[in-house]
Parts: sequence; structure tokens; C-alpha cells
Amino acid sequence: MPKDFVSLADWSADALREILARAAELKQLHRRGERPQTLQGRSLAMFFEKPSLRTHVTFEAGMTQLGGHAILLRPDQVGIGTRESAADVATNLSRWVDVLVARTFSHSLVEELAAVATIPVVNGLTDLLHPCQVMADLQTVAERHTLDDAVIAYIGDGNNMANSLLFGASVLGLKLRLATPGSHRPALRVRKQADELAAASGAVISWSEDPVEAVRGADFVYTDVWTSMGQEDEHDLRLEIFQPYQLNAELLAHAPDAWVLHCLPAHRGEEITDEVLDGDRSIVFDQAENRLHAQKAILERLLIG
Ligand code: CP
Ligand code: NVA
Repeated sequence: MPKDFVSLADWSADALREILARAAELKQLHRRGERPQTLQGRSLAMFFEKPSLRTHVTFEAGMTQLGGHAILLRPDQVGIGTRESAADVATNLSRWVDVLVARTFSHSLVEELAAVATIPVVNGLTDLLHPCQVMADLQTVAERHTLDDAVIAYIGDGNNMANSLLFGASVLGLKLRLATPGSHRPALRVRKQADELAAASGAVISWSEDPVEAVRGADFVYTDVWTSMGQEDEHDLRLEIFQPYQLNAELLAHAPDAWVLHCLPAHRGEEITDEVLDGDRSIVFDQAENRLHAQKAILERLLIG
């Protein structure tokens, strides 16, 4: 088993399915008011270079619910690269806490922290990947549909969400259709690795520039912001490029039975309309709820196996 949860591509299908099953179980226990104290006395450090609502709150609350404790670290406190090297930060934290969640701009910083730390490191989002979100997304899909048969369409930017969905689908052998502009496809290194994983798992993955083709008859339609954190300078240009990919009622009409997914936060009126986000086919708050349980299952897996 990998020490870290940095990329879904590092994990086996069996392990990811076990985590998803435990996440579903933890959700049921939570709803019954039960709080298994599986991580009693354990500490989690959370290092965030970017803003967060869901990731911060769900990791901290999740740790508390399992009997553990979480500590939030801001970049100006830690000063990676100015006050101290990433390697020294990872070595120090490994002497004090049991697990580290890191949300960074550069993916290589999370990889470096993971390589040096002797404790597990969890990717809480980088410019490249957002694996914890995809675990919650797949838990949400599995609540509505047989995971293996579900046709998931992702439209918009080939960003960290698209990359992680590609890895999740390709490891687990799922059906994923992507529609992005040719200029904003998922990262080449991700596509190559996903192709290899899909060849082994039997995943059916397609890409096109046509959002209608991608969503037609899909069971789930997923989108994410067009301007991710750190890309704010490109906002106006991105608004133009991605306009044909807006998830609105007209596009959703091509997938009359589809549920709507979005990792949130949404830029309402850009990648998704209010009508769709607030509509009765939207399950975006189920996704957000499942962050709590998917991540508790990830933490348990890393800390107690
Ligand atoms: N979806 C998600 O990761 O949300 P936050 O940026 O609020 O953590
Ligand atoms: N692509 C978005 C995801 C936010 C959860 C971003 O990186 O800002």
C-alpha cells in the first residue's frame, strides 16, 4: 500500500473500492450518531497555500469525529522556501504529528513533502490533482448508480478535477467522457498515465471538444470552474474560451436522466447556471457532504490500514 494519498494513480482499484465502501459505512454510522474513535490521540497537520472551505472543514471535523485532532498551518507561519526548506518542514512534522494534508500550488511541492516525510501525506489539492474530491465524487455516484456502469461526462477545463477524474476512472475501470477545448485538455503526462491504467482496467474514456457529444445520454454531468485558484489573471480570456461549455438547461437537456455534479465552489453564471446548480438534479451538496466521510476513510486507511 502506498504511504501517501497524493495521486489516485498510485493506488489499486481494490484499495480505492475498500476506501469507498468504508466511506459509505462511516456516513451511515455518522447519521446514526455513532462516532467510531478509530484515530483517538492522533494528530493531523493541515498546510494550505490556497483558500478552502470544504477541504479544511471536512478534514478538521473528520479528524475530531474519529477521536483525533487537527492543526491548521498557514504558509506565512511556516515559510516554506523562505523560513525553512520543504524537506525540513516535512522532517519536523514527521516527529510531531501522524499525518499531513497539504494544499499547494505546485504539485511537486506535495511530492517533495511526501518523499521526505515519514508520515503519510495527503494531497488536499494541487494545480495538477485533487484526489480527495474524486473519492467523494465517486461515493456520490455510487449512491445513485452502479459505479461500474455509470457514464460520467465532465465538461469544461482540463484542470486538476479533470486530471483526477481521469485517474479515478482509469484505475477503477469506469466510463468517463471528457469535453474540453483542445487548448485546455488534461495534462499530457496525466493522459498518458491514464491511458496505461485504462488499458489494464478496461476503463472506457473518451475526449472530444463537443460538450453535447459528451453529455448525450450520460448518467452524471460534472463541471468545475473555468478559472481555478491561482489563474485569476486569465479570468476574462477563460470566460471567452469556455463559454460553449457552460452547463445550462439547454446542454443538460441532452442528458435528460443525468445527475449534476460540481466540486464547488461554483462560479455561478460562468461554468454553471443557477437554474442547474439549484435544480432538482443537482447533487453537489451530497458531494460536499461526502468529503467528510471519504476523507475519514482515507485517513483510517493511511493510519491504521
Ligand atoms: N471542493 C473543494 O475542495 O472545496 P474547497 O476549495 O472549499 O476546499
Ligand atoms: N479547479 C478548482 C477546484 C477547486 C476545488 C481550483 O483548483 O480552484
